[in-house]
Amino acid sequence: TGAFTYDPGFTSTASCESKITFIDGDQGVLLHRGYPIDQLAEQSNFMELSYLLLNGELPSKAELEKFSGTITRHTMVHEQLAQFYRGFRRDAHPMAVMCGVVGALSAFYHDSTDIADPHQRLVASHRLIAKIPTIAAMAYKYSVGQPFVYPKNNLSYTGNFLNMTFSVPAEEYEIDPVVEAAMDKIFILHADHEQNASTSTVRLAGSSGANPFACIAAGIACLWGPAHGGANEAALNMLREIGHIDRIPEYIARAKNKDDPFRLMGFGHRVYKNYDPRAKVLGKAATEVLAKLGKNDPILDVARKLEEIALTDPYFVEKKLYPNVDFYSGVILSAIGFPTTMFTVLFALARTVGWVAQWNEMIADPEQKIGRPRQLYTGHTQRDYVPLTQR
Ligand code: CMC
Repeated sequence: TGAFTYDPGFTSTASCESKITFIDGDQGVLLHRGYPIDQLAEQSNFMELSYLLLNGELPSKAELEKFSGTITRHTMVHEQLAQFYRGFRRDAHPMAVMCGVVGALSAFYHDSTDIADPHQRLVASHRLIAKIPTIAAMAYKYSVGQPFVYPKNNLSYTGNFLNMTFSVPAEEYEIDPVVEAAMDKIFILHADHEQNASTSTVRLAGSSGANPFACIAAGIACLWGPAHGGANEAALNMLREIGHIDRIPEYIARAKNKDDPFRLMGFGHRVYKNYDPRAKVLGKAATEVLAKLGKNDPILDVARKLEEIALTDPYFVEKKLYPNVDFYSGVILSAIGFPTTMFTVLFALARTVGWVAQWNEMIADPEQKIGRPRQLYTGHTQRDYVPLTQR
């Protein structure tokens, strides 16, 4: 009943207008504010990209300095927020901790939740971008039983995150520039991806006028799933399970078997029916970073061979299944020293800027109404209640 289109999974529904990110899935093109992702990944940095996503233009030197200064001022979290971690088991998945702690931010920053005020929206955005690395590093520290490390504001955004994650008070920690550059590139490649499931979740949550910190927590919850951001963890676990190139055909056969729910993790995409341009950058970076770090991880060979076999197999060719962003990122993250459980946290960290940029765009859009999809009702027609004694 009613005149609306049935579109499960929103495969052909545009939910909003946006000026932030453009994807041409057939050509494998991804542009942020018009700039190609490979140029941004090779020549820009995450702070500059964050400015671009939020403000629409690349910053001048002075604008960039002002922006990073503002972000830097917000890197600390309230001491009481640290108490939240202690309520979690140490072996909790860090994404579970992220959902809780980021949601808890909504109870702290009451002076930036009047969403009708553009200035307050901006402050909330800056707070989220600034605090998410601190919160993510604390989730890691809590999981390994080490003390939390405070932010150091003379470091870069990415350097600061690495320092909060890997330094311990007992020792000097030097940030390896190779690691810092690789991490920054990974952040750039995950920063935004138009109306994906988690971004749509943030927009839908925000469309009711909800607290921005709570909306980002909703995005984190959605990102966690293995069909979305959770695929980076699942992809590396899969590559490790395969372990040797000789075992690849067995896994390819499983992925093709309709009766087996197994899928090649890090493969396929709703929009890309061509090579994901982010995977292209990451595939190249994986080889370079491992070589520069002097690490020889056999799973890189497994990944390369798996890709080669899949891309020539009629099943994957016909369905246009190519490696996506989650296929090679784990190889690099693992070489840097992150446990697999942190992979999706890193995705959430980087995507926070995309979420807040999209949330801001939505709130500022006079056309935007509360998100309220309809349904095709397939349940019972009206019937009379039967008392318990007669059932
Ligand atoms: N391995 C084997 N078969 C696959 C795969 C895969 N990874 N992905 C899709 N297919 C098949 C699927 O079985 C279906 O076959 P058929 O038409 O015969 O039923 C066909 O390809 C289309 O798949 P779909 O599930 O209808 O497509 P979708 O657009 O709903 O799903 C996807 C997209 C990314 C969820 C899916 O490709 C997938 O599950 N991939 C593995 C998980 C993954 O890597 N996710 C990361 C996505 S990219 C970035 C991110 O969000 O993190």
